[in-house]
Amino acid sequence: MSQKSILVIGSSNTDMTAKTHALPRPGETVLGGVFTMGAGGKGANQAVAAQRLGGKVQFICKVGRDMFGDNAIAQYQKEGLDTSGILRSSLPSGVALIYVDDHAENCIVVASGANGDLSEADIEASSAAIKACGILLLQLESPIPTVLKAAKMAHEAGAMVVLNPAPACPLPEELFQYIDLFIPNETELSTFSGLPVNTPEEAEKAAAVMQRKGVGRLIVTMGSKGALICEGGPAIFVPAHKVKAVDTTAAGDTFCGALCVAISEGKSLKEAAEFACAASALTVQKMGAQNSIPFRKDINI
Ligand code: RIB
Repeated sequence: MSQKSILVIGSSNTDMTAKTHALPRPGETVLGGVFTMGAGGKGANQAVAAQRLGGKVQFICKVGRDMFGDNAIAQYQKEGLDTSGILRSSLPSGVALIYVDDHAENCIVVASGANGDLSEADIEASSAAIKACGILLLQLESPIPTVLKAAKMAHEAGAMVVLNPAPACPLPEELFQYIDLFIPNETELSTFSGLPVNTPEEAEKAAAVMQRKGVGRLIVTMGSKGALICEGGPAIFVPAHKVKAVDTTAAGDTFCGALCVAISEGKSLKEAAEFACAASALTVQKMGAQNSIPFRKDINI
């Protein structure tokens, strides 16, 4: 079976990260530690993860006509990504301000800039790439009408449509029928289903709600616990690797990119989730987003 191509449409950010002992409360100033600047953005992280882990990947995003946009495109080309569909905006490139505490927890503010300018017309102009891909991987750092248009177009062309619904925001009900694989974390699944999601049992019930809304299959990422696969029959739990996390930024993105690569190679959802858990366990052990995403040679399964 030939390997399916993966198209990622989403955000590109420059991440500005400060370490801190504890995340500041509203109105509080805290003295932090090391500052780093690196490549990020959920779309870009997922594209880079898929590329490093062995996928055939094209990435479509929109960046500004500025130094950050130039650097981002140069970096994606260095990674070997197909960047022929990347667009430019008159808005500044996306930037994410990130704090990471001593427990590897983070909080992130994204100044979307050019990401927010990726329009339905841009998707129309990218229709050849969308219709040619085997798997379309989307997130929610792009305007929702843009996500909807891309999902619908890929679905109608027969591609597998994968949505990582992060960050969670109100979605049109129409979108769900175009989603073959939905990859929320516990909080996101709770938001979309309206049910509490703290345990695998609760996640399975919430996943059933999403399937009634039209979503095909789900993999619920449950942080350091693991991931739950819901395909309609009894759910399958894949435990996470026990590692010492220093920064969880891009762990979910690595999971999504890795998962799509394994699926593109014809692996089952269980095998794909095991591969994705191994990849994201490596990501959390290093600081940064793309800085921490592993390569195929780093994974022993
Ligand atoms: O998922 C992590 C990413 O979220 C960061 O790289 C940051 O850019 C934000 O988009």
